[in-house]
Amino acid sequence: MIVDKIDGCLVLQEFDLVSTLSEFKYNRTTPEYIERSILKYIYLKNHITFNAEYGFEELLFGISDEVLSKIISDVKTMFFSSERINYNSFHDAYLFYYLEANIFKVWKPLLDLHINNLLKKDLIILDIGAGPGSVPLGIVEFYKLLAVKNPGLQFSIIIDIIEAEETFIDIANHMISETARFNTSNLGVKLRNKVHQVLDEKFEYNSMDTYDLITMSNFMTINERDNIKRGTAILSQLPRILKEDGSIIIIEPGDSVNGQLMKTIRNEITDSGDLNVYSPCSGVWEKKESYKCNCYSPTRTYWNVPRLHKFLFKKGIRKAGREQLPFQYVVYRRDGLTKYNEVVNQQYYVKLKDLRQCFGKSINVKANVRSVIERKNSHQLAILLCDGSCTFDKQESEIKAVMNKDFLTAVGITCHVIAGERLTLKNVIVKSTKYGVELEVSNDSKIDIEY
Ligand SMILES: C[S@@+](CC[C@H](N)C(=O)[O-])C[C@H]1O[C@@H](n2cnc3c(N)ncnc32)[C@H](O)[C@@H]1O
Repeated sequence: MIVDKIDGCLVLQEFDLVSTLSEFKYNRTTPEYIERSILKYIYLKNHITFNAEYGFEELLFGISDEVLSKIISDVKTMFFSSERINYNSFHDAYLFYYLEANIFKVWKPLLDLHINNLLKKDLIILDIGAGPGSVPLGIVEFYKLLAVKNPGLQFSIIIDIIEAEETFIDIANHMISETARFNTSNLGVKLRNKVHQVLDEKFEYNSMDTYDLITMSNFMTINERDNIKRGTAILSQLPRILKEDGSIIIIEPGDSVNGQLMKTIRNEITDSGDLNVYSPCSGVWEKKESYKCNCYSPTRTYWNVPRLHKFLFKKGIRKAGREQLPFQYVVYRRDGLTKYNEVVNQQYYVKLKDLRQCFGKSINVKANVRSVIERKNSHQLAILLCDGSCTFDKQESEIKAVMNKDFLTAVGITCHVIAGERLTLKNVIVKSTKYGVELEVSNDSKIDIEY
């Protein structure tokens, strides 16, 4: 990897993409220091002496029954209703369960930027609604990979956060300081400004820096204050503090209600022209200037269920046993760049809007992956597609390519296909089903993927 002398971005060399993608072949594993740091905070907060020499199990069982039962009951009830959440007594539970669940989601949008040489070697980030620092930790972990693979480069990350709750600022401070302690020598990490304030219409941006990355994760959800009502207004202010070549990453929960809210805000903000969508929804046949659609398109991160979650699972919290974490995201920029360029050579492909005229025929298709449906204990994979030529707001309008997982491995696609990748499918048969249109992949078919 080299660094562009003019814009400071990391430029991938011949084997760098393969090397970065290889990290996505395997499940994410939470580093041990993160889980120990979570336990350390809970020890210190509850006035229990923390002995760094203790093994993980010893640390876990050193927490009093009273503290543990409160965490367990809070994880069960915290986001139970669609009411606005009051974190008053929930900080420990959020730290214990949600921090880990939210660390690695940012890797997908970071990969989207990295493959087009848009990530800076020296990064200044602003995380809004930081909570316990989940997103900065995820970014640091991503950069650690880069730093280890490129020992000749010196990387740095400066982090500013905005957070309404003082206790979360303390937790984020603790977690980010710990991550800096367990770092590689060629990656500097600094938590610089901790802005303890509610971000609303009255927020004063003049005192802020300008940023390479502005992130918000689980910030505009139905549970968080009035952020949804103000979503477009908040986003429309951010170009003021975003560098000309910077990106805004929005990550939201993987359910349909929050996904629709995220897309409603996306549709409004792109209409205003303040920001453009970089990924995952980009037009295949023409540049998409505005968005009217609102389909449900969850993506997911694969991980090895960490020990704190396994522990909660044993205590009856079923969601703690999940091996895939669904989420939705948008990456915005202000420079018009998109993850993929429009395809010029269109004549050999059928647009998705025209597929219904091709039942029974063998055709070629180029489209972005909207989402992937993978059934447990099944070898089949359904890849939902979108090329921007039609909308998928109803289940009956879905267009999916159905194939065996072995087929993907046989053609050399060994990373998980999750969302936002561009697929080229050749020689696929168009079929009609009760859920819309299906593209049948056979041994004569060819498939290519762009990450
Ligand atoms: C669901 S948590 C998400 C935490 C973290 N980003 C994550 O994904 O794990 C939402 C956080 O945003 C903070 N928050 C919500 N609305 C806010 C606002 N308008 N201004 C500042 N902080 C806010 C909450 O206090 C909480 O810490």
